[in-house]
Amino acid sequence: MRGMSLQGRTAVVTGGAGAIGGAICRDLASLGAHVIVADIDGSAAAATAAALTGAFPDPAAAEPGAPGARARHLTVDLADPASIEEFCARAGPVDILVHNAGVSIVEPFVTSDPEHWDLMWRVNLRAPMLLTKLLLPGMTGRGWGRLVFVSSDGARAGSGGEGAYAATKAGLFGLAKTLAREAARGNVTSNVVCPGPTDTPMLRRVDAEKPGLVDKIAKGIPLRRLGAPEDVAGLVAYLCTDRAAYVTGQTLSVSGGVTMH
Ligand SMILES: NC(=O)c1ccc[n+]([C@@H]2O[C@H](COP(=O)([O-])OP(=O)(O)OC[C@H]3O[C@@H](n4cnc5c(N)ncnc54)[C@H](O)[C@@H]3O)[C@@H](O)[C@H]2O)c1
Repeated sequence: MRGMSLQGRTAVVTGGAGAIGGAICRDLASLGAHVIVADIDGSAAAATAAALTGAFPDPAAAEPGAPGARARHLTVDLADPASIEEFCARAGPVDILVHNAGVSIVEPFVTSDPEHWDLMWRVNLRAPMLLTKLLLPGMTGRGWGRLVFVSSDGARAGSGGEGAYAATKAGLFGLAKTLAREAARGNVTSNVVCPGPTDTPMLRRVDAEKPGLVDKIAKGIPLRRLGAPEDVAGLVAYLCTDRAAYVTGQTLSVSGGVTMH
């Protein structure tokens, strides 16, 4: 399809070693982007980058990590501003920035631990702010860019036990819309994607603790199944292409119809 190629673009995917992040990396690489898998888990990120380079070989590249290779990985601790700064210096020019990394600590709000709020604020909201502050000027300067923020339907609709998490993820809505306005003249779009319950190891861990819960969740979804990481990745990848050049400032759910607004 015309306008879908990402050839020549460099994409950073935070949390790229995770379930949804891995699917996003695959879709962006399949469209021709050079993908930087950014994660605190260096060995998992390296494995993801190597798999991408194997699956989508670039004739210009001799080996994984070589200039022009389909993917490489960079370890970063998004809770740490110094690590983010070092990451940006090593990444070089970035055209597409997918803020996908996230941490969720589930506990009733009144008994929740403010130390946990702090970690979620640092990774889920402050890190996207810091990364964007450092990488957006390069995008506007070159006259093309894409910001995609992975939030959560829990932030749109509320989600029991996820008060602090939802607060940090809801912060992305205001940030993304403001950036959509500020960066529009630089031809940079900024959008938010909200997954609903998605079949990932994280959700399976919840099922192990509360057997039957995931089945119950799935039955309440209009499309009668959990989301797959690929469902989320498809929308993220589309938003990164030229076909989505006129889509900005939007918050879109990928949740089988749970959230309709
Ligand atoms: N799985 C779901 O049902 C669901 C629902 C709604 C929203 N989300 C959101 O989607 C995104 C991806 O979720 P997932 O299910 O793939 O989770 P995941 O746990 O599989 O992936 C998250 C990734 O982020 C990385 N990460 C965590 N802390 C980091 C840090 N300090 N620095 C760098 N990397 C760090 C992890 O190592 C991991 O690879 C998250 O933002 C999550 O909040 C997920």
